[in-house]
Amino acid sequence: MGFGFQWMILALSVQFLIVAGEYFKPFNVSYDHRALIIDGKRRMLISAGIHYPRATPEMWPDLISKTKEGGADVVETYVFWNGHEPVKGQYYFEGRYDIMKFVKQVGSSGLYLFLRIGPYVCAEWNFGGFPVWLRDVPGIEFRTDNVIFKEEMQRFVKKIVDLMKEESLFSWQGGPIIMLQIENEYGNIESSFGPRGKDYMIWAAKMAVGLDAGVPWVMCKQVDAPEYIIDTCNGYYCDGFKPNSDKKPIFWTENWDGWYTSWGDRVPHRPVEDLAFAVARFFQRGGSFQNYYMYFGGTNFGRTSGGPNYITSYDYDAPIDEYGLLSQPKWGHLKDLHAIIKLCEPALVAVDSPQYIKLGPKQEAHVYRENVHNSDQNLSFYESKCSAFLANIDEHKSVTVKFLGRAYTLPPWSVSVLPDCKNVAFNTAKVGAQTSIKTVRFDDINDPAYLQMMDPNQVTHISESWNSVKEPIGVWSNSNFTFQGILEHLNVTKDRSDYLWYTTRIHISEENISFWKDNQISPVLTIDSMRDLVYIYVNSQFIGGAKGKWIKVVQPVNLTQGYNDITLLSQTVGLQNYGAFLEKDGAGFRGQIKLTGCKNGDIDLTEFMWTYQAGLKGEFLKIFSTDDNISAGWTEFPRDAIPSSFSWYKTHFDAPGGVDPVVLNFRSMGKGQAWVNGHHIGRYWTLIAPKDGCKTCDYRGSYDSDKCTTNCGKPTQSWYHIPRSWLQAADNLLVIFEETEKTPFEISIKSGFSETICAKVSENHYPPLHAWSSPNITNRTFSLNTMIPELHLQCDAGHTISSIEFASYGTPRGSCRKFSKGSCHSPNSFSVVSEACKGRNGCSIAVSNAVFGGDPCHRVVKTLSVEIRCSSSSYSSSALMK
Ligand code: GAL
Repeated sequence: MGFGFQWMILALSVQFLIVAGEYFKPFNVSYDHRALIIDGKRRMLISAGIHYPRATPEMWPDLISKTKEGGADVVETYVFWNGHEPVKGQYYFEGRYDIMKFVKQVGSSGLYLFLRIGPYVCAEWNFGGFPVWLRDVPGIEFRTDNVIFKEEMQRFVKKIVDLMKEESLFSWQGGPIIMLQIENEYGNIESSFGPRGKDYMIWAAKMAVGLDAGVPWVMCKQVDAPEYIIDTCNGYYCDGFKPNSDKKPIFWTENWDGWYTSWGDRVPHRPVEDLAFAVARFFQRGGSFQNYYMYFGGTNFGRTSGGPNYITSYDYDAPIDEYGLLSQPKWGHLKDLHAIIKLCEPALVAVDSPQYIKLGPKQEAHVYRENVHNSDQNLSFYESKCSAFLANIDEHKSVTVKFLGRAYTLPPWSVSVLPDCKNVAFNTAKVGAQTSIKTVRFDDINDPAYLQMMDPNQVTHISESWNSVKEPIGVWSNSNFTFQGILEHLNVTKDRSDYLWYTTRIHISEENISFWKDNQISPVLTIDSMRDLVYIYVNSQFIGGAKGKWIKVVQPVNLTQGYNDITLLSQTVGLQNYGAFLEKDGAGFRGQIKLTGCKNGDIDLTEFMWTYQAGLKGEFLKIFSTDDNISAGWTEFPRDAIPSSFSWYKTHFDAPGGVDPVVLNFRSMGKGQAWVNGHHIGRYWTLIAPKDGCKTCDYRGSYDSDKCTTNCGKPTQSWYHIPRSWLQAADNLLVIFEETEKTPFEISIKSGFSETICAKVSENHYPPLHAWSSPNITNRTFSLNTMIPELHLQCDAGHTISSIEFASYGTPRGSCRKFSKGSCHSPNSFSVVSEACKGRNGCSIAVSNAVFGGDPCHRVVKTLSVEIRCSSSSYSSSALMK
């Protein structure tokens, strides 16, 4: 067949694909006790959680391609009801909520999609994904056997399933959707509803299946799920999990590869050695579908973050970081693991359950060997299909075990994977080969590591010219109203704003004044119970505040004779997203608000007339929008002006050049919200994490979110992401609302980063992964033992290796940024690495004497350690930080 003809066929099929609007040849999805069956074949699947509204549509293609490159087969997302139906009956599927576009992009990249509709999703998302109007539907009770709730839930779930069908996005239509989820961890709260809980769960399962989506449904953490729904596991480890029927496969819907955090808390990290261990153990013990929660966490833009009190970043310590950059070595080490699981897939799917071999007190093997009824001894390992996992769950000791006649040394808390039941291709605890360690990104300007990297004079303040306008304290419009008593916060704001002003007036007699004076006491304002944040003002003067979740507030106040205005600003910082009875939760104040310590006993302010003002004037005017017609009354705010609390600030700025992510540093600010070109980039709050509790992290042993934390004594979040697509080249509008007395002049902007990448690989490391796909291996004309390990270094896209900071082939010591030469060192180390890497985006170096011009020290295992610096290709390093 000539070349031209081949091209014609290719062109025709491409055209066919476009015309048919299909992403795959239609295929069926079913399951048995072992795995999902896709188009007739059992599959071992790696799934990657990405929540579409936590990125912009412009970021999606890159995220999806990095996910695919990382070795995932499936992308998972929740569906965010409150984003899609902000007003009852008015649907929204545009911008970051264009779920159809997201699903299609996943499909066109050749990945499958796992859609978790919920529509309760938890997810550290405002109100767990429920629209706030839902709590106002008369007679409603959430997530129980309540007709009204069920009607609303069914309407939304059906809407989503129908939309996906209309767009032909299910597998049997040639789309990427292979699996769906209804509800979310309902098993955790089912008993709170008594028998109605179970009835609701069964209803939800039936309702979902009744929508004829044509693909399997799952319920996570639902031990009593009906037989036609797969119950699945969520957690840090799921290798011991068994579904509630032996007809169902073992699925892990949420592998928590990091964790979220709250304002004022430390930042959690999960070591990749432990994460890889958990994944390998899962597949070792019969699991077949595993989803990373999250593979990319992203950002809680606007007021989408749940809580209360969750920060704007949802980085989650995921393999792809908040900005869409690879987080190393997490991404790279997992990529290697995924490639190895792929190598084992033929054996894993061929076997109904593995053979278990006890290797030691805390060591065990699981062997997946297909019984080949064939006496041909010359079968290669692919044909004979045998793969094995050797685990050492001892947290402390490295152990040498014997397996099928050979000895294997297993580091503590690790799994070795043997795709051919003989050669170790991967060990979960050995990060180094084909992986790089990335350090220092948007580091803090007060961090010594940062100062070492760059000249602090180059930190760029976003602007030298600011305008400001003050936000009134208390009532600002005639939309205020007066009511006798204390109204629940959300009943008034409907969550259109975080802020609700409550004002009352109290008359203080001369008698009381002298009583306080004579006894040298002040009266005390007490609030029985409050959440999330309250500021207290007397006669427009700020006198104190409190934050917490349903806490008592006790605030001494100074009152003057005659009328005094008491103003309370109640604030929400992300609505509750977890638990039963969310609709009853509410916000603001509970119980009584009193003035205690008065001459004639306590005064119950709860019985007073209160004037209510929801939201801020600036929010109402939309003074953050790019519409020039808004007359907000901005005036110039000179550098030496004394900042006052409750101020709006605005400025214009040029976007940093290049393609790197852009971030704002709000460390100098207090608390507020920010908008760029009218886009709400989120809440900010400079709350400092506790000084201690950040321990050096040991990957060994069970992980929990307190185990490995950073940022002690520093703000939980300092950097705030502005997606590139929200910026134009010049004259971008930044508007911020600041609650405290902070000046905006110190706000800085940064893009373009230089990063340090390290890698360390020894001569006796595993052969490079690509060796396994070599036909020489399959034909056994080559032995894996003779294959030479490689060291890989890779900068982010648009970056090149600008300098080699360290290179030593021999016996170098230390770890990244602390490497030093050992007693053995090849004099060619630097020149070999430089030659191979400098000026390139990435490079690989074989770790062998031949490459380094001879053996620098006989009979010693040599290691190659390298540290390089990557810089933006289009900028010189000095221009980088400008
Ligand atoms: C799970 C929940 C997720 C998310 C996670 C913590 O229990 O299903 O939605 O909230 O916890 O990040």
